[in-house]
Amino acid sequence: MKKFYITTPIYYVNARPHIGHAYTTIACDTMARRQRMLGADTFFLTGTDEYGVHVERAAIAAGRPPEQWTDEVSAAFRQLWDRLGITYDDFIRTTSERHKRGVQALWSKIRDNGFIYKGHYSGHYCIYDELYVDSAGPGAPCPECGRPTETVQEENYFFRLSAFQEKLLRLYSEQPDFIRPETRRNEVVSFVRSGLRDLSISRSSFKWGVPVPGDPGHVVYVWLDALSNYVTALGYGSEDPSRFEKYWPADLHMIGKEIVRFHCVYWPAFLMAAGLPLPKSILAHGWLLFEENKMSKSRGNIVRAETILEVLGGDALRYFLLREIVFGQDGSFSFDALVQRYNADLANGIGNLASRTLTMITRYFHGEVPYPSPAAAHQTADDAIRKSANQAIAEYQSLFDQYQFSRALELAWSLVASVDKYIVENEPWVLGEEANEQSRARLATVLYTSAEALRIVTALVHPVIPQATRRIWTQFGLGNIGTFDLSSLKWGQLQLGTKLGKVEPVFPRADKSAVERMQTMEEEAPRAATAAEAPSQAKPSAGSHRTPAVPSPPSAVANHKISIDDFTKVEMRVGEVKVAERVQGADKLLRLEVDLGGEVRQVVAGIAEAYAPETLIGRKVVIVANLAPRKLRGLESNGMIVAASAEGGRPVLASFLEDVPLGARLK
Ligand code: MSP
Repeated sequence: MKKFYITTPIYYVNARPHIGHAYTTIACDTMARRQRMLGADTFFLTGTDEYGVHVERAAIAAGRPPEQWTDEVSAAFRQLWDRLGITYDDFIRTTSERHKRGVQALWSKIRDNGFIYKGHYSGHYCIYDELYVDSAGPGAPCPECGRPTETVQEENYFFRLSAFQEKLLRLYSEQPDFIRPETRRNEVVSFVRSGLRDLSISRSSFKWGVPVPGDPGHVVYVWLDALSNYVTALGYGSEDPSRFEKYWPADLHMIGKEIVRFHCVYWPAFLMAAGLPLPKSILAHGWLLFEENKMSKSRGNIVRAETILEVLGGDALRYFLLREIVFGQDGSFSFDALVQRYNADLANGIGNLASRTLTMITRYFHGEVPYPSPAAAHQTADDAIRKSANQAIAEYQSLFDQYQFSRALELAWSLVASVDKYIVENEPWVLGEEANEQSRARLATVLYTSAEALRIVTALVHPVIPQATRRIWTQFGLGNIGTFDLSSLKWGQLQLGTKLGKVEPVFPRADKSAVERMQTMEEEAPRAATAAEAPSQAKPSAGSHRTPAVPSPPSAVANHKISIDDFTKVEMRVGEVKVAERVQGADKLLRLEVDLGGEVRQVVAGIAEAYAPETLIGRKVVIVANLAPRKLRGLESNGMIVAASAEGGRPVLASFLEDVPLGARLK
């Protein structure tokens, strides 16, 4: 039996999950479901990456001890995957004991093989990308994210990465599929060709990590720790390595394009050093953009999957992401596009086809699948549908094998469109009213042909839209779609007399208000600030109109303080409200124009329920002035108004008892 081991990246718990994370997880889930339907012994792993200084700081900012914070955020990821119907076989947390044991075993193996030594590191480090940055001056920006790097001077353990340059280059040339798509492969090849330096793989300046075996004053570099999850979850280094022996090496590590270097250079080098087999393939997809930027917590432009789940359901999000974005390239998300696709392809497309076909079988044939009559006329039209369906099965398979999800779905939906056209042209509702033998035979053929094509589409797209297809399958009276053998799928399997179940619509049409409802839900979603955001505000990248979260009592974080440098990165200034008005269609938002002394800023703030606009004119307020602009309801917000969060989350604006000049900075 073929095995298939697929992994998502393990997600950082410095922020709550959003649809960018869901994108990778959904793509993996779709692959895993498909492989299971094809009969492969599939193992699908996901999890959370919980160590590192930026996670520790996020916990501090949220007012929680890191153990509690990571429990909470990790659970949020897991819950979201459960709500989205993600069929992961295991969920690994890097703070778990089994992971720690595995990382230490891997470290020891690499060390015993002679690839770890102690040395001195003096250089610059980006805590957000967990990246050592060569040749940067103090505070120089990280080449990945632009945030200021921190100067590090430590005695560290080093990994002899330089010893693997030639071996890696040989790997890339001998296994061209090791890195996909090709553009990413080329980038990696040129990076490795330009020379590899040994890599610092331990830190002694903080404790939130896996202790280095034999030297607990050091913790393992988070990327060595994180990448190891792919083997520790299988029991590497434990008493029971049976899963490891069965599933390793991974068939596919799916990742976002920003972590290609870690997966395609460091990971194979670590594995080579430990003498372990290498993954078969690493597939990098592009970024999900929102308002033209990569969706990310630090930019403040995230969309939560929960909102879409609540309004349109999980299948809508799954379908949209895989259909709309060309896998491998960046793609944009918008609520308008989501609703448009939902209505066009799901409600009016497959949903409508299922309901009209199955309803007519119920009405005209007492809910039993009729048999096509070979004698009935119009065979060309029937044959054309049969041929397209058989062709779709073959092509869909090959497109999926190349991870061309959007083209595969396009193909399936062109079959849906052909069947729709076929139904319109053959007018079964007219045939159904004609009481002669010939019309009845023709009606049976038309409905059989439509139903059989629908069954084929349903089976093909089940891995993408599992909930709706499960329901359609049940309405067909075919049992559990999850156990259907996809490799056997072909025209003509739908048996005469199959008794249909109760026919119900699977995708109700979304009305115009759906977009607005989702936008409002997002604008009103509570979002706790995290330390991960604070430093990024030094460069113009974050933005929010929201009032800050209620701070927890400082005692909860007595041991975790931020430095004055962290505080000074947030630029708070005194401003005076010149204009205040309601934002149309948004009950909670006000549009303000605030004079910061020499500069008037437009700020969109979620305070409309607490303050009537006219009461704010002339009032002095505090503005976080160095947030990146953010668009809300089409209006650019250039800063955040500072407020305390009183009972029930009611914002109370910060103000002064004495007079203060406009533009004065709060320190
Ligand atoms: N913890 C590391 C990965 C360690 S894997 C051994 C990490 N975590 S992360 O939380 O930042 O998640 C990164 C992954 O989430 C990306 O590689 C990508 O798969 C997914 N995405 C997060 N935001 C995304 C978008 N806006 N668009 C597309 N994918 C996104 O890096």
